Amino acid sequence: MEKYENFLELLQYRRSIRKFKPDPIPDEYITKILEATRYAMSGGNSQPWQFIVIKDPEVKEKVYNAYLECWDFTYHMEQQRIQEYRLPAFDVPPPEKDKSQRMLAGWKDAGVYLALLMDRRKHWGSVLVANQGLRVMPLSMGHCSMVIHLAAAALGLGSQRVDFSFQQPFREILGYPEPLELDVIIPIGYRAYEPGPPHRFPIDESIHHDTYDMSKFVRNEDFLEHLLRLRKLTRPGYRVAIGEDKG
Ligand SMILES: Cc1cc2nc3c(=O)[nH]c(=O)nc-3n(C[C@H](O)[C@H](O)[C@H](O)COP(=O)(O)O)c2cc1C
Repeated sequence: MEKYENFLELLQYRRSIRKFKPDPIPDEYITKILEATRYAMSGGNSQPWQFIVIKDPEVKEKVYNAYLECWDFTYHMEQQRIQEYRLPAFDVPPPEKDKSQRMLAGWKDAGVYLALLMDRRKHWGSVLVANQGLRVMPLSMGHCSMVIHLAAAALGLGSQRVDFSFQQPFREILGYPEPLELDVIIPIGYRAYEPGPPHRFPIDESIHHDTYDMSKFVRNEDFLEHLLRLRKLTRPGYRVAIGEDKG
């Protein structure tokens, strides 16, 4: 039971941290975080990941600037939607565009950026997994990513997942060959703020006993209402990073 309580506390402490202090983190911490990834689950134990530990300020700056272009693209694409239905970090109109940048790209100062590369060939260690490659591969990467976030939290650090729209700029900067792909960038560093507890839907809404309880099914006509509830839950996690919410 005590282990469960500690585990739950760690899960709640881990949040997406979107602003960091510029202090470097000890190499020992990076080693510990990477060591933890060895125990992540992966399809057929394929361990399809490789890591680039980015500490050189010049490389960091290039990676960061490449990300800004991805962010800019997504920002403008998201403006196609009605404001309150947009992902919370994009529900700011163009005159306030810098807020979106501060929420999604506030990670510039993080001590280290971890680039997670995936190697699709490694899933061919299992035919079953390879057959389902498109689905299973990113799942394995997701397990690895979660271990990294939890290990960072266990060390009192903050981390964020940074997804992006384009592969090529990162390939040029980081020099990884085909067929490797960049799966995600995880900035890790000292937290510049404390985000408060995570906001989630009540668990009862997701649990069914023996057979599916249709009263819990989100009907198509209710989907927008569901989305608004979700936006309300998720908004503070982004706003707290720019000092506009208590989290
Ligand atoms: C697959 C996946 C992709 C995500 N991509 C991003 C991202 O690109 N940028 C970002 O700021 N957060 C990203 N997140 C973080 C989520 O927004 C975050 O986990 C969610 O809002 C819950 O907040 P919490 O992590 O603080 O508990 C991603 C999370 C997952 C699991």
